[in-house]
Amino acid sequence: MPQSAENFINQLLNQMTTEEKIGQLNQFSASADLSPDLLRQGKIGSLINASGALTGQGFSDSGNAEISNHFQKLALESRLKIPLIFGRDVIHGFRTVFPIPLAQAAAFDPDLAGEAASVAAREATASGIQWTFAPMLDIARDPRWGRVAEGNGEDPFLCSQIAAAVVKGFQGEDLSAPDKMVACAKHYVGYGSAEGGRDYEGGEISEPTLRDVYLPPFRAAIEAGSGTVMSAFIDLNGIPATADRRLLTNVLRGEWGFDGFIVSDWESIKELIPHGIAEDEADAAQLALHAGLDMDMVSGVFLNTLGKSLTDGKISREELDEAALRVLRIKHRAGLFDHPYTDAGRATPDILAPQARTLARKLARESMVLLKNENNLLPLQGFRRILVAGSFIHARAELFGTWTPDGRAEDVTPLDEALRETAPNGMELWFADTPDLALHLAHQVDAVVLLIGEHPSRSGENANVSDLGLPPGQSEFVDAMKEIGKPMTLVIFAGRPLAITRQLSQADAVLYAWHPGIEGAAALGELLFGHEAPSGRLPITFPRATGQVPIYYNQKNSGRPVHPEGQFKTRYIDLLPSPLLPFGFGLAYTQFEYGNLKLSSDVMRGSLEISAGVTNVGARVGVETVQLYVRDLVGSLTRPIRELKGFQSLTLQPGETRRVTFVLREEQLAFTRADGTFGTEPGNFHVWVAPDSQRGLRGEFCL
Ligand code: GLC
Repeated sequence: MPQSAENFINQLLNQMTTEEKIGQLNQFSASADLSPDLLRQGKIGSLINASGALTGQGFSDSGNAEISNHFQKLALESRLKIPLIFGRDVIHGFRTVFPIPLAQAAAFDPDLAGEAASVAAREATASGIQWTFAPMLDIARDPRWGRVAEGNGEDPFLCSQIAAAVVKGFQGEDLSAPDKMVACAKHYVGYGSAEGGRDYEGGEISEPTLRDVYLPPFRAAIEAGSGTVMSAFIDLNGIPATADRRLLTNVLRGEWGFDGFIVSDWESIKELIPHGIAEDEADAAQLALHAGLDMDMVSGVFLNTLGKSLTDGKISREELDEAALRVLRIKHRAGLFDHPYTDAGRATPDILAPQARTLARKLARESMVLLKNENNLLPLQGFRRILVAGSFIHARAELFGTWTPDGRAEDVTPLDEALRETAPNGMELWFADTPDLALHLAHQVDAVVLLIGEHPSRSGENANVSDLGLPPGQSEFVDAMKEIGKPMTLVIFAGRPLAITRQLSQADAVLYAWHPGIEGAAALGELLFGHEAPSGRLPITFPRATGQVPIYYNQKNSGRPVHPEGQFKTRYIDLLPSPLLPFGFGLAYTQFEYGNLKLSSDVMRGSLEISAGVTNVGARVGVETVQLYVRDLVGSLTRPIRELKGFQSLTLQPGETRRVTFVLREEQLAFTRADGTFGTEPGNFHVWVAPDSQRGLRGEFCL
């Protein structure tokens, strides 16, 4: 931070009373009955969910900016005129709703995810928001957990690449620019390890796994300059994350140099009491502040107890000052002292701009994953009449997915309308929104497309499921349609991997659409009818059955590696040990072959070049996401059987061969070793240039 900025905030801090300092550590949820005096007395540092808080109370539809300005004006009547910072969950878009983050990860295109974050920042800041509670960076290995939709899947490398791009997209090069907003790396840390996939449950993660799997995306976000971090609800290894000084201070600040502020999750400070490590609110507030947590999201325990705790010597003036200084630092970095108000005139040009929709459609297209395409049924061409059926045929807001408080159904072209607009001339589309009608009409058409899957209400916070099968009634519908025997395509909308083993065998083609956002319907039509080709790859493993979970590609080998036959080498007596579909998997409308693997050396000295030829051996243009994996064969700790270390996207014309080259750097082989230090160990390695985490051309080298 420039010295002038540090001088400014330190001089301001020196003028502040204890009450004013505590006020900065307090975030309230905006509402029509929020006391103006709390704002005028400087007792609130931030408001959450101001947009919409007073809609209908004399504010126009674009009232979000005016509502923020209304509250900001009250705050600037305070003695020191310290501006509020307005926070909101702008997780995957504001009015232009992009595909859910898990879908964005399937695009394997961090730059595109970063562009989407930049659009979200432009729209949200035009609406008076200066701080988003995103990106959500929780590694998830258990798709029963509702929030798997909100993260970027199971792999630390892919998640880290996206984390950095999204933070830069939200914050830009200059965070004080009016169309940029403060990012928040959440939920720090290990939240996705909640036992049983049940949100809010505790988790146990070993230190090496915490360091090498769960922490890397957060480190990437901090290195990209994220202004804030949010502590997780989780009780991790017996210490709730909101009160874990080792993680909040020693790691985040001591090791990584984070200089922003840490906000709790919703009331998670007060929840230290039911967690059973705090006696009462004062104890909870002291524990959190001692741990290095700076702002209390809406529980009020900081505001209600820190003053007395200071008087009683239970907290120090230094830790109170440090917390207030961090909040002032980020407010200053966000330019709020220079421009605390939002120009309400920005709303129209900056929100739902045509180029935003174009980006949303591109990202939706790139995120959809083709899981099966028997006899090249897709793209659907040359058919005279096609039946489109299922619960999603009229979908509008159902395409948004979880965490989309500012998306509006009226902004979305209904799915059936979008498919009509993208179907080729001469092709007749019939629609049926009940199974009975669909089964009746199916006899009269050339092919059927079933639009099935999860309503967004099955996704998101605490939307956990005990059964990863399709929602009730849908597998019976697919069974019945299969009986009729027409070429059948399944389009599956979901916020998680579903155990679609039966349906994958029944269908001729399966396209996984996730929850694809505001332009998802048109994107789907472009892929189904061949205007564009699918290129998505799975960012998370698909299990055969719920009972297989947790199952993920970067697992350890065990002393009895999985083997389809061997009696003591399978994992279930009633199920194959392999996943239904592996991490990194995805098909195209063409086929690719890999050949001619080359390593620049069989000894790693600082770095190594690994290359291979990729050929499009099909009849259509295609995009292949070529992946680089390594395996450390022997370590002081057991090592994963594969780890993603790079990926590149190639667009190849039919017959075209391109050589793809990766540079693997020695530091990418570092891990948390048996003695707790982080570094490499000499030995032999395998390396793959691969289409997914199970196949590929394998080479060997030593370090
Ligand atoms: C919620 C979520 C968190 C969100 C916050 C504010 O409980 O856990 O992700 O940002 O509250 O809505």
